[in-house]
Parts: sequence; C-alpha cells; structure tokens
Amino acid sequence: MKKNILVAGATGHLGVMICKSLVSQGAKVIALVRKESDAEKTKPLNQMGVELIEVDFNTISDIEKACEGVACVVSALAGLADVIVDTQKLLLDAAISAGVKRFIPSDFCTDYQPLKPGENRNFDLRRTFKSYIDEKDIQATSIFNGAFSDILKYNTPILNFKNKSIAYWGDKADWKLDFTTMENTAAFTAAVALQDESPRDLHIASFQISPKMLKESVKAISGQDFTLQKLSELDEFAANVKKQRTENPSGEQELYAKWQQAQYLYSMYTTQHPNLDNQKYGEIEWTSAEEYLKSFLK
Ligand SMILES: NC(=O)c1ccc[n+]([C@@H]2O[C@H](COP(=O)([O-])OP(=O)(O)OC[C@H]3O[C@@H](n4cnc5c(N)ncnc54)[C@H](OP(=O)(O)O)[C@@H]3O)[C@@H](O)[C@H]2O)c1
Repeated sequence: MKKNILVAGATGHLGVMICKSLVSQGAKVIALVRKESDAEKTKPLNQMGVELIEVDFNTISDIEKACEGVACVVSALAGLADVIVDTQKLLLDAAISAGVKRFIPSDFCTDYQPLKPGENRNFDLRRTFKSYIDEKDIQATSIFNGAFSDILKYNTPILNFKNKSIAYWGDKADWKLDFTTMENTAAFTAAVALQDESPRDLHIASFQISPKMLKESVKAISGQDFTLQKLSELDEFAANVKKQRTENPSGEQELYAKWQQAQYLYSMYTTQHPNLDNQKYGEIEWTSAEEYLKSFLK
C-alpha cells in the first residue's frame, strides 16, 4: 500500500521538488497550502497528482485533520522565528495528535550542532525547534545538506565572477565545502520520508570541494584562471560579521540579511560533513562537482 506523506512548504523551491520525488518514489503526497499561496505554485502540484489541502496554519485542528493516516510529515517551510519555530511547533503538535510517527523538520543546511549559538541566526531558530521536537514522542530526522550548490552561481566570495576570484579565510584553502543540489536533497528527503525509521541526523553532499580544488576545476572547465584569495583570518571574519549584524538591526526581520549570508559563509568554512549518508537510501544519482560546474561555466 502507498505511504501517505504530508509536505508543508510544498509551494517552495525545495518543497515542490520533494513532492515530485515522493510521487516518483511511489508515495501518496498531501500538500498543506495556504489561502494566499500563489496559484502558479499550486498548479504544478496539482498536475503531479498531489492532494492539496488548504489550511490556516494557526488552526491546529485543520492541520490535525490533514495529518490523519500520514506516515511522515516533511517540513520545507522557510522563514524566521514565526515560521521555523512557531508554525513548525503547531505543525508538529498537530502531527503528534493525529498519531503521525515521523517528522522531518525544515533544517536543510550545514550541520549547526558544532557551531556556537549566536554564530548563525537562522541556525539558532532550527536549534530552538530541535530542542522542542526532541522532547516529544515522535521520531525526528534532520537532513543536513551543507549549502545548496546554486550558491556557486550567485557571485559570492566563494566563486566571484566579477573579480575572477575564489576566497577563503584562515588556513582553509584546502578545506572541503559541502554542496548539494536541490534535486539531490529532494530525492534523498523523499527516500528518507518513505522509510519506517531513520537516524536523528543525516548528512549528505552531492560534492565536497575545497577552494583550491574549485580553482583547478574552473580552470579545467572554462580555461579561466581565478585568483585564490585569502580574505582574512577566521576570527577576524567572525568579528566582522558580528559588527555587521550590530550595525544593521533591520536585518533581524529579513530572512537573508547580508550579515546572515556572511554568517552562512562562516559556517561553511568552519563545519563540514566528514561522514556522508549519501548511499543509505534510494537510488540517487549524486551530481559531481564537474557536472554541476559545467552546467553554468562557459
Ligand atoms: N542550505 C542552503 O543553502 C539553503 C538555501 C536556501 C534555502 N534553504 C532551506 O531550504 C528550506 C526550503 O527553502 P526554500 O528556498 O524552498 O523556501 P521558499 O521557496 O521560500 O518556500 C517557502 C515555503 O514556506 C511556505 N511558508 C512561508 N511562510 C509560511 C507561513 N507563515 N505559513 C505557512 N507556510 C509558509 C511558503 O508557502 P507560500 O507559497 O504559501 O508562501 C513556501 O511553500 C528552508 O529550510 C530553507 O532555509 C537552504
């Protein structure tokens, strides 16, 4: 019999891909959407045979009803404390009341556990939700994917097309950074959701590449010689990010404030996934660094 998997945040970039992977892996998929969700985003869900249930995320009884008979709830919600903490808590409480056994929270980031609280605002929200869910009688699994590989296209210091440079901090020229494509993250999440049980934490990466290796790959693929550039010591970087945050309090209300993006870069150069769970579930074709870089480098 098909397993019922419920996805919250199904209209998002990652959410829709998780739904697609779940359908292709044989699940019956239920997506929670809001009255205000964009019809352009619900249409593809409809087309792939997902059952859409419109709920008010503040009405626990609505969510509880939608969770009846569900084996696992997957959250791909994105937002600040009101979403990652408050809405996810309501979703979790409703799932537990409905007898759901498993829950995958919207972590989908670098494993924040080795980082200190305060070093990354968005990770701190996940940490708060983690302490809530870990007290509950439900099996939680966090999926840590490092950075979505799209970041390599966004002209960040990691790969800066304007200056033709590849940056690192401290002694991290050989430090392997974890990148996962959104497609691979979605396929893995779907495979995990369909298990009867899974570990508390799972670590994945489509590819792991250091700044030095990235320089070599860019050269081999495009012929362009990017400069490998040390920007500062890591502690100076951390102090600078802290200063940026203090000077820009309005960023507290922005999901991807500039200083938050810098916090994310800092986390990438200070934590990594040494043991990958890539091969644990499903038949996933993991995208290599070469394949990914070739998809956009000329
Ligand atoms: N590791 C990385 O590099 C990386 C990068 C980007 C994102 N992420 C993570 O990946 C996950 C998914 O992100 P995404 O980019 O796919 O997000 P997204 O495209 O912005 O989608 C957000 C989803 O959350 C829903 N949502 C937002 N606020 C809500 C609320 N108050 N109540 C109910 N639903 C709400 C949206 O529904 P509506 O359509 O109704 O608005 C939408 O379905 C998040 O955990 C995010 O932090 C990781």
